[in-house]
Amino acid sequence: MQSHVSARRSVSADKGIDWGDLIREDRVHGALYTDPAIFEIELERIWRRTWVYVGHESEVPKPFDYVMKSIGPEPVIMSRGRDGEIILLHNRCPHRGNHVCVSQKGTARSFTCPYHGWTFNADGGMRGMPFPAGYDKVDRSTLGLGRVARVASYKGFVFASLAAAGPSLDEHLGAAKDALDAVCANSPSGEVELTCGFLKHKVKANWKFVVENETDGYHPGFVHSSIFQVSGSRITELYGDASQSLARYLGNGHTEIDLRPEFRKRGEPLSWFGTTAARLPQYVSQMNEAYGEEKAREIMIDGVPHIMIYPNLFIAEIQVFSIQPLAVDETVQHVTALQFKGAPEINRRLRQQTMGSVGPAGFLLADDAVMYEGTQIGVGLSNPEWLFIGRGRHRERLDEQGFLVGNATDETTTRGIWRHYRSLVEAA
Ligand code: FES
Ligand SMILES: [Fe+2]
Repeated sequence: MQSHVSARRSVSADKGIDWGDLIREDRVHGALYTDPAIFEIELERIWRRTWVYVGHESEVPKPFDYVMKSIGPEPVIMSRGRDGEIILLHNRCPHRGNHVCVSQKGTARSFTCPYHGWTFNADGGMRGMPFPAGYDKVDRSTLGLGRVARVASYKGFVFASLAAAGPSLDEHLGAAKDALDAVCANSPSGEVELTCGFLKHKVKANWKFVVENETDGYHPGFVHSSIFQVSGSRITELYGDASQSLARYLGNGHTEIDLRPEFRKRGEPLSWFGTTAARLPQYVSQMNEAYGEEKAREIMIDGVPHIMIYPNLFIAEIQVFSIQPLAVDETVQHVTALQFKGAPEINRRLRQQTMGSVGPAGFLLADDAVMYEGTQIGVGLSNPEWLFIGRGRHRERLDEQGFLVGNATDETTTRGIWRHYRSLVEAA
């Protein structure tokens, strides 16, 4: 190939990185996944700047409920204020920096720092400190917990940005809003809940391998063939060479594998969920009641999207994943079953399938994890230095809405992710 970086190197000392030297339209340099200095830049320009998915409103249903979440490697407390608003607080005591919240979740009108006992209201305001005479004439209003600069939700999905200024959540989500609408449309109440707890999967791999893999339609037929065989699933058809499913780039780093063309060909409600209408009669009648039979049938044929909302919210039909980078080569995926508010029959099955596929004995994430970790080791080797992401470039096209699409197995999604990544890291 043409000229590129001449030798394997770290960009650690390189303040003025030429990102075009590392990111090409059909190739990316391996250092992007291994260099700690690049990871630091990503924390600054992506994780601490853009909108990041934090949690779902249903996780804190009542005033004073809280749950520990994160923005990149940083822990944050997501709580419900007295008036029902969602509050995000940094878990760092303004005294000497200890953490003020040590439980994963609960209900609390105040948080007490374990070190010297300073207490804070649920909205982060300073409530009191032991032996207060020692703080005579100190302005307590400056000693509250830090609040995350911007918080906004869409359809119950809570996002945050640590930067006070920048595009609105609406602008950031763009076309991904339609996908979130489609997720919620599968609920007879129009609402989803994330209420059954999270499994955490840690892998020794860079977070970008995980993001790219979520809408990589090339691998499922190989990496997941054993689980598909054991479960008698028809998923392989969806990702085969003859599949009419589409890999789509939605802009702003968001990508999806649109499986609807295959599901519409089948024309069977709930085929997306590997079942039939006859097996979920209560859910089907709830859907018919909510939307009318025709619309309900369309929704139940199309199913829940398979979408990666950049940089960390992945909705995979029946599950919701949040991706958390911890280090250049360490990433956690937090996963939970999607639940439709007021639809117990399908919810039970959603939980069972989630446990079966991504639970401790499930194959699905374990299969992917072996790939992530193998790839991470591979990019640490010296030759070749580049990864080829050019699959399907020649057959990329615009769909009727003007989005770039490729065949299901094409790397249209990966290339879109890298174009967006470059725009973020180049914005100094
Ligand atoms: S560090 Fe929190 S009270 Fe001292
Ligand atoms: Fe996979």
